[in-house]
Amino acid sequence: MKLLVIGSGGREHALAWKLLQSPRVDHVFVAPGNGGTATMAHSTNVALSDPAALADFVKKEGIALTVVGPEAPLALGVVDTFRAQGLKIFGPTRAAAQLESSKDFAKAFMVRHQIPTAAYQTFTDPVAAHAYIEAQGAPIVIKADGLAAGKGVVVALTAREAHDAIDAMLGDGSLGAAGARVVIEECLLGEEASFIILCDGKNILPLATSQDHKRLQDADQGPNTGGMGAYSPAPVVSAAIHARVMREVITPTIEGMKADGIPFTGFLYAGLMIGDGDDVTRPIKVLEFNCRLGDPETQPILMRLRSDLLEVFEHGVAGTLNQSVIDWDPRTALGVVMASANYPSTPRLGDPITGIPAAQPDCVVFHAGTALKGSALQTSGGRVLCVTALADNVRATQQRAYEVVKSINFNGAQYRTDIGWRALEKN
Ligand code: AMP
Ligand code: GLY
Repeated sequence: MKLLVIGSGGREHALAWKLLQSPRVDHVFVAPGNGGTATMAHSTNVALSDPAALADFVKKEGIALTVVGPEAPLALGVVDTFRAQGLKIFGPTRAAAQLESSKDFAKAFMVRHQIPTAAYQTFTDPVAAHAYIEAQGAPIVIKADGLAAGKGVVVALTAREAHDAIDAMLGDGSLGAAGARVVIEECLLGEEASFIILCDGKNILPLATSQDHKRLQDADQGPNTGGMGAYSPAPVVSAAIHARVMREVITPTIEGMKADGIPFTGFLYAGLMIGDGDDVTRPIKVLEFNCRLGDPETQPILMRLRSDLLEVFEHGVAGTLNQSVIDWDPRTALGVVMASANYPSTPRLGDPITGIPAAQPDCVVFHAGTALKGSALQTSGGRVLCVTALADNVRATQQRAYEVVKSINFNGAQYRTDIGWRALEKN
């Protein structure tokens, strides 16, 4: 069987890698893919991104099923295009993907369906936005309504920063149409977790829990990034918290989408802020919804997946996820992102990369911003690699991942040295 994975990040490399472990998968195409998917056996990159062109390719190649990694093709309606032509694809429709592509849509949806989230207001008028900030005070969070490739959220510690963010988005149009409308919301405190499920429109299948590290530098300092590392499981999501997230967030979201006439299919990623208290009382609030898997969360999650991922997707597309069983390796997986020089502001591209070891059962180096120049590998994006290890406990997994990180070289490589610190602190 042939499959297509849409996207070019570490998440898509991990998806292709895992799908190729299925005895029924012969070949995976990745559009557009990266240096890792270009060099993996039984994997081929395809330089296409337009939904109609991808659908034509799928028909020409006889591809059985397509999985979408990133949000942009979902917001363009790739799932609608494929379905209209009778092609099997796992992901949300364009309408359902608004949970991610419009923060205002997501916030109004959560209020309508009593899903816990930070208090907020939406603005297009800068004068009204500035007045709201003056009335609320700092800290306060400013979010561009639309997709902004990870640059749309400013957690402002002072009113000055908040006003500047409003001037940039609503005044200077720094984020274009994505920032022409902003959500201003209450700043939440606590510990973040990534809670990702699959849904076929009605049945819900949770994935293993995970936690990302959004800030560039150790001890959660420096600017926000797309994610500098992740691990699974996330101890903050105890069994009791897991049950509460399903009851207070996930089920009402899936039921709410159904009630609103836009049933949700695909991956739903709730970014959660879990406040202080015990498992019964601590507040759980949604920071954001994504309509896709997380990157880098996918890399450690899929390292732990023992089941056949193709079967899971087949159930997802057929509406039979209630029949899907998913089996996780009980050990800890942990991924360390290696980013290029000057990431996240202006990542430098074109640095040669050396020292990547072959995939091992306990460590796989997933590629993101890498490309082949002739037969040589070089950096081609902000996040370059995600070195992902699997071992008995957080400490051992961290040691294994960093041992491999240190063997890899490219000029200006940046990585955090403390991925997993919250889990270590809990042990
Ligand atoms: P988002 O793209 O909405 O997930 O925001 C990116 C990051 O900004 C989150 O992972 C949080 O670290 C932070 N963030 C977003 N919203 C809030 C909030 N209301 N309070 C505190 N931090 C937030
Ligand atoms: N790692 C965060 C995200 O995928 O949005």
